[in-house]
Amino acid sequence: MKPVRVLFVCLGNICRSPLAEGVLRALAEKKRLAPALEVDSAGTGAWHIGDPPDRRSIEAARRHGIDISELRGRQVRPEDFRNFDLILGMDENNVRTLKRLAPEGAAEKVRLFLDYASGRSEDVPDPYYEGPEAFEALYQMLDAGCSSLLVRFGERAS
Ligand code: 4NP
Repeated sequence: MKPVRVLFVCLGNICRSPLAEGVLRALAEKKRLAPALEVDSAGTGAWHIGDPPDRRSIEAARRHGIDISELRGRQVRPEDFRNFDLILGMDENNVRTLKRLAPEGAAEKVRLFLDYASGRSEDVPDPYYEGPEAFEALYQMLDAGCSSLLVRFGERAS
């Protein structure tokens, strides 16, 4: 079966979306679903192109046995709308920007992450200006959302 190609998108691609990428990849490996998935992340903004994830996201991942330190920031590109099946924005602002960038016919690939994953129309809030404790809450939110996403993919495949 063709793998599902998923792109997580936030504003900077240093806090939320690289952590989501690491969490989904780790969950898929644990459940032996890794070959069925391709995962990447990007930002709508250009400030952090080439940067590693925020130290607080790296630490939150590491506390849960996941290494995201090698990921590097990149901005959403036009070909992403061709190359991915699902483009999951972390918040409504990201979704609005993505829909504006989407070429004709590709806007339906763009969804709010938690809405698509678990039917809860809820943002993953921007933690950039928050304290380090916000990153544990972020991890928990992404872990729950990515688990629901895998359940959804399982239902789709069967
Ligand atoms: P992210 O968080 O969108 O979760 O990566 C942010 C990172 C950087 C900035 C904003 C949000 N920034 O303004 O540089």
